[in-house]
Amino acid sequence: MSADAEAPPEWSDELGPEDGMLVVSNLVKNFGGITAVDELSFAVQEGEILGFIGPNGAGKSTTFNCITGVYPPNEGAVWYKGENVTTEKPHEMVKRGMARTYQSFRPLDDRTVVQNVALSMVPDKLFSLAGLRGDTIQKAEGICELVGLDDRLRMSPDELPHAGMLRLELARALATNPEMLLLDEPFAGLSEPEVDAISDLLKRLRSDAGVTLVVVDHNMRGLFPLIDRGIVIRFGELLAEGTPEEIRSDPMVKRAYLGGGTE
Ligand SMILES: Nc1ncnc2c1ncn2[C@@H]1O[C@H](COP(=O)(O)OP(=O)(O)OP(=O)(O)O)[C@@H](O)[C@H]1O
Ligand SMILES: [Mg+2]
Repeated sequence: MSADAEAPPEWSDELGPEDGMLVVSNLVKNFGGITAVDELSFAVQEGEILGFIGPNGAGKSTTFNCITGVYPPNEGAVWYKGENVTTEKPHEMVKRGMARTYQSFRPLDDRTVVQNVALSMVPDKLFSLAGLRGDTIQKAEGICELVGLDDRLRMSPDELPHAGMLRLELARALATNPEMLLLDEPFAGLSEPEVDAISDLLKRLRSDAGVTLVVVDHNMRGLFPLIDRGIVIRFGELLAEGTPEEIRSDPMVKRAYLGGGTE
């Protein structure tokens, strides 16, 4: 980047493909008259656990959708491992090693928990279950064990408690063997001990499997013990970025979450 003093200030902040494992640069996404993501730039470093925080409607899921190819952005670029992936389709991002969970998801209730995980391993969901090989099911069982669903393998997903459903969604993402995992509100509706249990699991994914994580939440309290660094967005724009301590004491964040609403 040129250090030209005449350049507009945002130029000096512009991120390039080498600035992280994942780099989002000046991303814009409009829906009709709504700007859901507004010139958002940030980078995710390999091996980190990044919190992606913001109130309802801030643009968190839309950002994930643009990164993972669900929606094409109107402007801006996404680089993954140094390559421009701005126009890649979701299945191509999965092949490149990126997985994500969805805030609202629908497992197949006429399949068991382990079959749902196994089906996420095969690229074509229409592939008949009879065609799933024994080693696929075995691998799916291993993933279920990793996420703490090993005693619920043969249940139907609709028999799972809420926390179990979130674990299943995590297992389905892990079934694609990701290097980076984007989690859209993995703590929604969980009790504090359940948040701690999922946090421990996510830390193990990082330490044992080297997975890089981006974790969305509205609330900071559950997220702060987990993350190395966070970014806070509001109205699709970057509001603050830093360690949990830096975010907590950021005047802009305090103002946005009036009255100590960071909890
Ligand atoms: N497919 C869509 N069509 C039209 N508007 C959309 C669409 N998806 C998101 N929006 C709008 O974009 C804005 C950002 O929504 P988004 O779902 O990204 O927010 P969020 O930060 O994930 O919120 P939440 O915490 O409630 O999940 C909102 O105003 C939302 O209504
Ligand atoms: Mg959302």
